[in-house]
Amino acid sequence: MASRALPPPPPTVRRTGGPVSVVFGATGRAGREIVQALLREGHDVVAAVRNESKLNEVFGASALSGATPASLGHGLLDYISGIDVTNAATLSSGNVPAVLKEASHVVVALGPVGGVQPGGGFGFFPGLTSEDVDFKGVTKVIDAVVDAKGVVKEGAGEGGKKQAAGEVEERKRTLFRFETPEDVAKWQRLDDVIMGGQSSSSLELDREKGYATYTGSLVVEGGGFCGTRASGGDAPVDLSGFDGVTLRVRGDGHRYKLNLKTTETLASENVYQAAFDTLPLQDAGEGAGGWQTITIPFHRFYPVVRNRVDYKAAPLQPSSQAAVSLGLVYSRFEFNRQANPYYDPGAFSLSLEEIALYRSRRPSLVLVSSAGAERNAKVETEEDRKTEIPIVMLNPGGILNWKYRSVQRDRERKREDGRPDVVCAVESPACAFASVFFNTPLLFSSFPSAETYLRASPLPYIILRPCGLVPEKAFGDEPSTGKLQAGQGDTITGRLTRQDLGLAVAAALASPYSAGKTMEIRRDEAADANAMTGVGRRPRTTAVTALELFQTLVADKDRAVSGTSGLFPFPEAVDPPQEVSPERAKEILNDPRVKAQQERDRALVESGALQKGQGGGGRIEEEPAAAVSMTASQGK
Ligand SMILES: NC(=O)c1ccc[n+]([C@@H]2O[C@H](COP(=O)([O-])OP(=O)(O)OC[C@H]3O[C@@H](n4cnc5c(N)ncnc54)[C@H](OP(=O)(O)O)[C@@H]3O)[C@@H](O)[C@H]2O)c1
Repeated sequence: MASRALPPPPPTVRRTGGPVSVVFGATGRAGREIVQALLREGHDVVAAVRNESKLNEVFGASALSGATPASLGHGLLDYISGIDVTNAATLSSGNVPAVLKEASHVVVALGPVGGVQPGGGFGFFPGLTSEDVDFKGVTKVIDAVVDAKGVVKEGAGEGGKKQAAGEVEERKRTLFRFETPEDVAKWQRLDDVIMGGQSSSSLELDREKGYATYTGSLVVEGGGFCGTRASGGDAPVDLSGFDGVTLRVRGDGHRYKLNLKTTETLASENVYQAAFDTLPLQDAGEGAGGWQTITIPFHRFYPVVRNRVDYKAAPLQPSSQAAVSLGLVYSRFEFNRQANPYYDPGAFSLSLEEIALYRSRRPSLVLVSSAGAERNAKVETEEDRKTEIPIVMLNPGGILNWKYRSVQRDRERKREDGRPDVVCAVESPACAFASVFFNTPLLFSSFPSAETYLRASPLPYIILRPCGLVPEKAFGDEPSTGKLQAGQGDTITGRLTRQDLGLAVAAALASPYSAGKTMEIRRDEAADANAMTGVGRRPRTTAVTALELFQTLVADKDRAVSGTSGLFPFPEAVDPPQEVSPERAKEILNDPRVKAQQERDRALVESGALQKGQGGGGRIEEEPAAAVSMTASQGK
């Protein structure tokens, strides 16, 4: 590359007004695709890089001069340079804390750095090993984000209450309260008498207790529904920036429906409708007295005309619609005149404290970890390791251990020592002081991996564990849906492109279902196979498929308690295995699965589709045993 004078870094971050995402590892092979996906989604991206020349090499000179190349997307690309995550001082100096404070999201796609060693052969460079970057470096980034945001943490560990500032915060906007006669007067009765039925209902205020009860009697003959409706006020209520409607109610075991009329459904019979179930009174817990908080995301509202679903109507789009009125319905029918499974003729009672719009927490930090990390922690013997997938067999430099290791076993180890818990995840003056104060040696590793450190941090996060990362061409020229699949518990293996990973990161940052979760991710090759035969052909990953991706995943806190989620709790720690011997590495490389991958990559290199060193097996071309230790994509 021709040398050129580089302009000084800009003093403040350039912004268009979209979300600001800081990406660590932005010049890495995965990081650059993540940057581009975020720019396409309208994020303003700040690349946190080691040096400007690599940024120039990867994104072009315009990235340094203030103009985002048009090909990169809608957002603005900016950078902070001189970042060495192994050196905390570089994360707390200059404008870095201000940039981190301003950022809505931080993406960590770091990896160890290696190459030809001074003494010959390949390996990670001292100071930039997996332990240095994947573990210590990542924990320093997490600390820097926590410090910059001034995040407070109440209570320790996974159960501690977490709060974070900024755009990722949960939000609520109250639409209706039920405390005064004026509150109740906003609601109008809409029973089946309007069509000749005999049901009746009313909303009655209990002023002393500060709530109202919607009560009445449902008569099936001649109709079979009761309803009440209130307008949102003088002006329609903007729904953008919210995820759904939340209600604080005490019911009677019946299923009710919530109607939402928006600027899109002004015709008299059109409305968006969602059903919700209430607790039977006898199940009401002590103290709570049967009160429940119901949350109904917007995507659970169906467009209906009377109670028939209007399949041709536009779905409820909070970004472009405003709420005009809200209604509650108790009906013998659910949708499409099918029976409401939880209704009884006669009396009903639904007490109401509040109806509000809500926005869920978004992840403020995305950690790109690796599939195989949890699988590695379950390996008990070297014999077991031999039956594992190649990346777990090799576990180069203990990379998988530095990404994931459980907290629990280390705690037990300390207690056996009988020493007080002066345990630090990384070196810091506070830790050194504590060790002197308690007259005890410094113990490191209370949270001895990047993943566990992040889970115990106060930041809302998502941990994405990609399976083997490969170039687009690795999938050949066959039609592809680009659809992604998620797994949990580290059981899936497979491949995906770095562009796929970029899409998944962007989708995770927008999704109300991604915070607090750890997932493996791969390309849905079965969907691709179907696409080849014309069955189930679908567009590339979209907002809807991204919703599918995160919605059904179990939150990490629910995995911690055995039996609540159907997923095993995270496994206990294992020590990093011994480095594999060159002989064993050769054996692994002779594994038919690895050989097949190498063959595929070799063919791509020969056809010019894949640059040497670019693919899952590309680096193996150069120097088998050690080169394999530098790539994580093998055989996942
Ligand atoms: N390859 C796979 O198949 C695969 C599969 C699953 C998961 N993963 C994981 O995905 C992540 C990203 O992988 P990748 O292939 O994109 O890695 P990569 O190309 O090696 O990129 C690593 C990035 O980290 C940066 N970095 C390293 N040390 C740093 C330091 N001390 N301070 C600041 N930045 C530093 C590098 O900066 P420079 O650009 O300046 O060198 C580079 O941008 C890794 O954690 C990897 O384990 C990979």
